Amino acid sequence: MANSLYDFGMIGLGVMGRNLLLNMADHGFSVIGFDKDAAKNSALEAAATPGTTVKGVAELATMVQLLERPRKLMMLVPAGQPVDDVIASLLPLLEQGDVVIDGGNSHYTDTLRRVQELRPKGIHFMGMGVSGGEQGARTGPSIMPGGDLDAYAKVKPMLEAIAAKVKGVPCVAYLGKEGAGHYVKMVHNGIEYAIMQLISESYALLQKGAGLNNDQLHEVFKNWNQGALQSFLVEITADIFLQNDDKTDKRLVDVISDKAGSKGTGKWTSQDAMELPVAVPVIDTAVAMRTLSGYKEQRLQAETLYKAPENALHVPADMWIKQVHDALYFATILSYAQGLAMLREASNDLKMEIPLPEVVKVWRGGCIIRSTLLEVFTQAYQKNADLGNILLDENIAYLVESVIANTRSVVAQAAAAGVPIAGFMSALSYFDAFRTGRMPTNLIQAQRDYFGAHTYQRIDIPGTFHTEWQQH
Ligand code: 6PG
Repeated sequence: MANSLYDFGMIGLGVMGRNLLLNMADHGFSVIGFDKDAAKNSALEAAATPGTTVKGVAELATMVQLLERPRKLMMLVPAGQPVDDVIASLLPLLEQGDVVIDGGNSHYTDTLRRVQELRPKGIHFMGMGVSGGEQGARTGPSIMPGGDLDAYAKVKPMLEAIAAKVKGVPCVAYLGKEGAGHYVKMVHNGIEYAIMQLISESYALLQKGAGLNNDQLHEVFKNWNQGALQSFLVEITADIFLQNDDKTDKRLVDVISDKAGSKGTGKWTSQDAMELPVAVPVIDTAVAMRTLSGYKEQRLQAETLYKAPENALHVPADMWIKQVHDALYFATILSYAQGLAMLREASNDLKMEIPLPEVVKVWRGGCIIRSTLLEVFTQAYQKNADLGNILLDENIAYLVESVIANTRSVVAQAAAAGVPIAGFMSALSYFDAFRTGRMPTNLIQAQRDYFGAHTYQRIDIPGTFHTEWQQH
């Protein structure tokens, strides 16, 4: 290389760190990575495309010395204390103007604190969501940076080079102040949880309602991925049904335990939504269902105690597949609607200035929740950048109306047959409440005033009222 200093440094050469760095190198940047584990350093260098400039070192100070000033470096280490530990070791080595990016799944409040701690020291700290897993990191992730705009300007060319592209547009944009990057990624993951829950419910509905085997499930999801439901999660679901187990003669999906794990970002989304407050019940339900999946022993006991309803699902397979397709389409739109409404609220509340039109553009490619629907949302925000809820867009309303009857049919039949579809039910109930000008919550106001003198407002006279309620 022309000069002996490197363009970009990476701290932590796990799967994501290594692949992001190799992606940068493939785009012509000279890169250097640090990991205490020497094996990871050699693995990085061995995986480099011939002709690219990639180095791995086992000393943090060496890496920092070998970076072009102002330095641009990223850490990809587990969220929490490890990020603070890395910052503590970095600080004595850095100079004013250096840019440090946290590309992991940190909680946005930690990011906010770190931005504020490092700002007086002249260090630009940026929280940045990166989505797309191993493959995305290597060939084009969706990148959600936030924080210091000047710092973003310094790394923008690199991020644009490595990001996924949709119609030539890179899936990266400045997404707001302070902890906005990690906030957007957190909500991305909340939506990811919701859609995964809905797909798993669709799987149950197709198995129970149409008796589909794994080959048929593969075909259904493959077909769905060629239409309105086209998305990364539907695409990988189709693949999953065909994977053979290498230990038995079964399909792998049939021997995987039904207890689902989680690292916490879905829970954070729900917790923060409650704090704001904003209603994201499909995400809440997805988090709760993962928790319920862990109650294995109790569920096995309950299975013998409670009999399933006699009412088996009786629908011709073709009709059922179409109805479940429509219900999944409906509830997927609702999942995005809730997540985006949460981002809008949080952006105002925390003064993050998150540009929603940019968020949906960045999510169009590279990330786990990428789907053809993001194009529809992009158009909605092009018409109205300050859309309160995407359900209020006329085109989206038309799409929702076109699938609502089948959604109701699926929910009703699944309820009668005792198939748990909490995600679908939650999406439908949110929708029915959202499209209702008058909810039954007047009664809740009356009850609050009855037992606690909490007061209420009337529909006909302005002001606040209290009544001495009579016992009858
Ligand atoms: C991504 C993913 C990624 C990770 C999730 C998994 O966008 O690439 O969201 O960040 O796979 O955090 O989360 P759970 O372990 O909580 O399911």
